[in-house]
Amino acid sequence: MSPWALLFLAAHLAAGEPTSITTLTATPAKPTKPDHAVTLQWSNLPDPSPLDYVAVYSPPSSGDLDYLGFLFLNSSASWATGAGSLTLPRLPDLRAPYQFRLFRGPPGRNPRVDQHVDPLPDASRRAAVSGNVAYEGSGARPAQLHLAFTDEADEMRVMFVCGDGGRRSVRYGPAGRREEEWEEVPAEASTYEQRHMCGYPANHSVGWRHPGFVFDGVMEGLRPGSRYFYKVGNDLGGWSETYSFISRDTEANETIAFLFGDLGTYVPYNTYFRTPQESLSTVKWILRDLQALNDKPAVISHIGDISYAKGYAWLWDHFFEQIEPIAANTPYHVCIGNHEYDWPSQPWKPSWAANIYGGNDAGGECGVPYSIKFKMPGNSSLPTSTIAPDTRNLYYSYDAGVVHFVYMSTETDFTHGSDQYNYIKADLERLNRSRTPFVVFQGHRPMYTSSNESKDTAHREQMIQHLEPLFVKHGVTLALWGHVHRYERFCPMKNYQCLNTSSSFVDPGAPVHVVIGMAGQDYQASWEPRPDHPEVPIFPQPQRSMYRGAEFGYAKLVATREKLTLTYIGNHDGQVHDMVEILSPQVDTDSAPDKLVGAMPKKMRYLGIAGSVMLAMLLGFMAGFAVRRKTDPARWSPVQDEES
Ligand SMILES: *[C@@H]1O[C@H](CO)[C@@H](O)[C@H](O)[C@H]1NC(C)=O
Ligand SMILES: *[C@@H]1O[C@H](CO)[C@@H](O)[C@H](O)[C@H]1NC(C)=O
Ligand SMILES: *[C@@H]1O[C@H](CO)[C@@H](O)[C@H](O)[C@H]1NC(C)=O
Ligand SMILES: *[C@@H]1O[C@H](CO)[C@@H](O)[C@H](O)[C@H]1NC(C)=O
Ligand SMILES: *[C@@H]1O[C@H](CO)[C@@H](O)[C@H](O)[C@H]1NC(C)=O
Ligand SMILES: *[C@@H]1O[C@H](CO)[C@@H](O)[C@H](O)[C@H]1NC(C)=O
Ligand SMILES: *[C@@H]1O[C@H](CO)[C@@H](O)[C@H](O)[C@H]1NC(C)=O
Ligand SMILES: [Fe+2]
Repeated sequence: MSPWALLFLAAHLAAGEPTSITTLTATPAKPTKPDHAVTLQWSNLPDPSPLDYVAVYSPPSSGDLDYLGFLFLNSSASWATGAGSLTLPRLPDLRAPYQFRLFRGPPGRNPRVDQHVDPLPDASRRAAVSGNVAYEGSGARPAQLHLAFTDEADEMRVMFVCGDGGRRSVRYGPAGRREEEWEEVPAEASTYEQRHMCGYPANHSVGWRHPGFVFDGVMEGLRPGSRYFYKVGNDLGGWSETYSFISRDTEANETIAFLFGDLGTYVPYNTYFRTPQESLSTVKWILRDLQALNDKPAVISHIGDISYAKGYAWLWDHFFEQIEPIAANTPYHVCIGNHEYDWPSQPWKPSWAANIYGGNDAGGECGVPYSIKFKMPGNSSLPTSTIAPDTRNLYYSYDAGVVHFVYMSTETDFTHGSDQYNYIKADLERLNRSRTPFVVFQGHRPMYTSSNESKDTAHREQMIQHLEPLFVKHGVTLALWGHVHRYERFCPMKNYQCLNTSSSFVDPGAPVHVVIGMAGQDYQASWEPRPDHPEVPIFPQPQRSMYRGAEFGYAKLVATREKLTLTYIGNHDGQVHDMVEILSPQVDTDSAPDKLVGAMPKKMRYLGIAGSVMLAMLLGFMAGFAVRRKTDPARWSPVQDEES
C-alpha cells in the first residue's frame, strides 16, 4: 500500500468510519496541579507492530512533525492485542493543552535524527488523535517557583511563570503572622520571542514553544535568619501553594550549601536526546538533606549546564517543575554554562578558543532563556550582538553566613582588563575575612581537571594564567567547577603545584579545586582510556588529584567560623563518599577562645575533628591511595562498578 493510501485510510479512520475505529483517549482531561500523571489508552488498533507509537504535542495546533517526544506502544504489556495503556508522570503545565497522536510503525524515513543519530519517527501514518488535556487553571495559576538572593541582605527574590503577563503579586509574612496581615508586593513580568533565538532548533517550530511570562517579585524588609511563608499569584488566576524559607543571615555562624553542576532534567518520554533519570535522584537526596535541616538556612548552587534544554523550550518547564520542591524553599543560584550560551556568532571568541566557543551547545538559545528565567544578584550583562536581549547573570557574589560565594562566567571574557576580571579582582579585594573567613569561587569550565579533554586545554591554561594569581593573593578557600560530569577533588593548588595532600588541613592560602559536574547529565567519556589499558576508563591519576568518583551525586558544604567541610554524596546510597576539611587560618586552634568554638566543649571538638578525619580517610583517602598504587584497578573506588 502506498503512503497515500495509508494516509487516506488513516484520515477515514480519524474521520470516524463506523467499523473498528482506532481510539486514543487521554485522562484526566483536566488534571489538577498535584496530579501530574496522564494515562493514555488505545483500542482497536489493527495489525499492531512493536514500532507503533504515540507522539506528544503541545499546543494541539502543532504540526505532526513538531512533537515534544514519543513513546512506543510496546511498553504496554498488551500492545500485541491492539489495545493498551501508558502513563506519563510529571507533565508540566505548558500553559497550553497537550494532545496525543497515535502513529503506525515502522516510523518511516525521517530526515531528522536525534542527538545520538538514532532515527526520529516521521509521524506519517496517523491512526488516532486524543482529546486535549489541559491543567485546571492552566497558565493562570503560577508555576515553577524558585528563590534567589538579591543584592540586599534583607530581601528574597521569587520568580515564577504564568501564561499571561497580567498583574501578579507575592504575599509573605513571618511564621506566626496571620495571612490577612501579610505584606504584598507586585511582581514584574518579562518574556522573550522566537525571533530572539539565535539558531536551530530554538528558533524553529520543532524547538520553539512560547515560554510564558516570567515574574520576578522581591520580598523586602526580612528579619535575618527567620522563617517566612509566601505564595504568589492573584485572586482571579489563583494562587500557588504556600511555601516557606529561612531569610538570609549575614551574621550567622554556620553556612550550609548544596552544590553541583550539569544536572539536566528528565522527561517521561523519548525526545530529541536522552534525558537523565539521575537528575531526579539528585533532587530527591537534596530534598532529604534540606528537610533534615529544620530551621537552618541553606543555599543551592548549580554551576552551569542547567536544564540542557538546548533549544527545546519545554525542557525548561520540565526542569523548573523538577527543581521546584527544593528551589521554592531554598535560594537556587546559578552561573552560565556552554549549554546555555554557546553559539556560532557569540561575541567573545579569542583565537585560542576557536575550538572551544562558537559551537551549537545551546541549541540556538544564545543565553536568552537563562537570562530571563533567572535573576541573580549584581547587574553584569553583555550584549549578544544580535537582536536578542543582553546576556545576564554572568558574575556576582553574596555573603551567606561565614562564606563569601563568588560566581563567574567561563563563557565570556575573564582575561586581564575585562569587565569580569575587574569585577572579580575588586570583589576579592573587598573581602573582610573576619566576617567571612571562607571564600567559595565557582564557574562552569574547570581550571583543573584530569579528564584531559584536550579540546579545553587552552581554556584551562588561560584560566590559570589570568585568575589563579587572584585566588592565591586573596586566599580563595575553594574553587568549584562543573562541565566534566564527574567528581574530582584536587589538593590546594598554586600553579599546578600541590600544597597539601592531607584531607584535613589549615588553609594554606590557595584554593582546593573540586569538579562537581556529577549531578545527573551523562555523555561524558570518562577519564580517557590508556591505550594499553582500554578496559580501565582512567589514565594515570596525577599526584594532585586526590579523589575521583564516577558516581552521580552532589556536594554538601558545611562551614563554621573555624572549619569548612565539603562532602561528596553519591546518589546510589545517599551517603558520603569523599570529604575535605579546611581549617580557617584566622583561628589558631591551640589558643582559640572558647567562644569561637560554640557550645561544644573544646576537648570534644578535637575528638570531632579527629573522628571526621578518620572518616574521610576511610571513605576517600584510602581509595585515593588505592588508585595511585595502581596494583588493582578494580579496587580503585567502590563506585567504579556503577559505571558501565
Ligand atoms: C519496543 O520497540 C522498540 C523499537 O523496536 C525497541 O527499541 C524496544 O526495546 C521495545 N520495547 C519493549 C519493552 O519491548
Ligand atoms: C534560525 O537561525 C538560523 C541561524 O541564524 C537562521 O539561518 C535561520 O534562518 C533561522 N530560522 C528561522 C526559522 O528563523
Ligand atoms: C555568632 O557567634 C558570635 C560569637 O560567639 C555571637 O556573638 C553571635 O551572636 C553569633 N551569631 C549568631 C547569629 O548566632
Ligand atoms: C552595576 O552596579 C554597580 C554597583 O552596584 C555600579 O557601580 C554600576 O554602575 C552598575 N552598572 C550598571 C551597568 O548599571
Ligand atoms: C570586618 O567585619 C567585622 C565583623 O563583622 C567588622 O567588625 C569590621 O568592622 C569589618 N571590617 C571592615 C574593614 O569593614
Ligand atoms: C593530555 O592530553 C595531551 C594532548 O592530548 C597529552 O599530550 C597529555 O599527555 C595528556 N595528559 C595526560 C596526563 O594524560
Ligand atoms: C598539611 O596539613 C597538615 C594539617 O594541617 C599539616 O600537619 C602538614 O604539615 C601540612 N603539609 C604540608 C606539606 O604543608
Ligand atoms: Fe559544560
